[in-house]
Amino acid sequence: MRSLISNSKSSRFNACTRAHQLAALALVVFTFLITRLLDHTVGQFQSCRLDSYSSVDQNGNSKSFAYRTYSGRLNLKVYVYDEDEIEGLRLLLYGRHGNISAENCVKGQWGTQVKLHRLFLQSSIRTRKKEEADFFFVPSYVKCVRMMGGLNDKEINQTYVKVLSQMPYFRLSGGRNHIFVFPSGAGAHLFKSWAMHINRSIILTPEGDRTDKRDTSAFNTWKDIIIPGNVEDGMTLDTPKLVKPLPLSRRKFLANYLGRAQGKAGRLQLIELAKRFPDKLECPELKFSGPDKLGRAEYFQHLGNAKFCLAPRGESSWTLRFYESFFVECVPVILSDRVELPFQDAVDYSKISIKWPSTRIGTQLLDYLNSIPDKAVEEMISRGRTMRCLWVYAPETDPCSAFSAILWELQKKLRQFHQSAETFWLHNGSVVNSDLVEFGKWTS
Ligand SMILES: *[C@@H]1O[C@H](CO)[C@@H](O)[C@H](O)[C@H]1NC(C)=O
Ligand SMILES: *[C@@H]1O[C@H](CO)[C@@H](O)[C@H](O)[C@H]1NC(C)=O
Ligand SMILES: *[C@@H]1O[C@H](CO)[C@@H](O)[C@H](O)[C@H]1NC(C)=O
Ligand SMILES: *[C@@H]1O[C@H](CO)[C@@H](O)[C@H](O)[C@H]1NC(C)=O
Repeated sequence: MRSLISNSKSSRFNACTRAHQLAALALVVFTFLITRLLDHTVGQFQSCRLDSYSSVDQNGNSKSFAYRTYSGRLNLKVYVYDEDEIEGLRLLLYGRHGNISAENCVKGQWGTQVKLHRLFLQSSIRTRKKEEADFFFVPSYVKCVRMMGGLNDKEINQTYVKVLSQMPYFRLSGGRNHIFVFPSGAGAHLFKSWAMHINRSIILTPEGDRTDKRDTSAFNTWKDIIIPGNVEDGMTLDTPKLVKPLPLSRRKFLANYLGRAQGKAGRLQLIELAKRFPDKLECPELKFSGPDKLGRAEYFQHLGNAKFCLAPRGESSWTLRFYESFFVECVPVILSDRVELPFQDAVDYSKISIKWPSTRIGTQLLDYLNSIPDKAVEEMISRGRTMRCLWVYAPETDPCSAFSAILWELQKKLRQFHQSAETFWLHNGSVVNSDLVEFGKWTS
């Protein structure tokens, strides 16, 4: 019985005429050519492609995952709120006296709050029409403003709440398409009542964990985006670097840790370990202020004088040293168990770094690092060299940059439709609130 069926099938197939077969073949070839042509055309116009930095590796293996993740076409529109359009935004940007300058706030490890704002403003994906925007960027330099005494916690909280109350598009989506940057370890906690107000929004932050502070973590791996810390421009810009990487053979130390202890267990252990093995582990007492303050170049010279740069956790899980390591070309060793790393859709961190349990800081760690052959160290460093462009806040015309990678992550979060508890819709597409007022007339 079974054979009968298959026979009849094959005979039907055979009955297919040669002309049909040729026609089908021609169609396949035609479709293929058209697709190639379209790909090619789209490729020339797209604003961002990430294939320039990692095509084929030394072993002739195919393109990296980063290529697969970030190739194709960026197609999204972002509206950037203007500082004069919403009452309160200027406070979040320049403080209560309006005298905190963006120039000051763009420096240092929290500079991302200014850099991202500027990059969105200049970007080709920016739109000035709210009705066509996929995302809304809410600018704020509060980390800097707070540090400079421009606003206190209470004012920051109240100002955010006031700002949000003036945004109908925020209400429409429940905040889901609104983007906020919180550049420090505190994450969204800088805005005390964040959980009440922006719990559905997209938060860009270097910090993924705050459980040690007994705050609930403000970071949600499925909606938020981890961003790299802001590395000194002098190290990331192509010409000429503040400090050039040393060849491995000329590095004096096996590993180093540069930073203050700040009473943190892991850091104190490293400083103790360095006293026992001063020729292997460099842990200098660094001055970050006062007359003996370490210069920027000196700092990076120290950092680059070891094969491995240890990056223990500090006040919070993320550490800038991890990102800096790639520019002086030492292999970063993460000693921060709960760290979250950026762009995990594209970067395989096991190829470019080491993560070691922070509970095992001691001679075992040094012995392990010592046992790693130089060839393996060189390989990690050279792979890191091809990925580090992802930590650089360059415009999206630079296809491998932190900003491009963020745009790709945003693109994955695109939604066709937005709703919130306050949103209703009618048979004819009219969006209304619970009082049946049409969206265009919402005042807040
Ligand atoms: C801003 O102005 C206030 C009031 O004049 C002043 O107290 C404060 O020091 C100024 N801040 C900066 C950063 O210039
Ligand atoms: C933040 O501000 C809002 C509005 O003024 C207020 O209701 C809320 O209690 C504040 N949160 C904190 C933690 O102070
Ligand atoms: C989340 O935010 C919405 C407003 O967008 C608020 O109504 C809700 O209570 C918040 N949820 C929590 C758990 O605070
Ligand atoms: C849709 O229907 C409602 C209720 O009939 C009406 O008030 C509204 O003007 C209509 N909207 C459009 C865009 O026609």
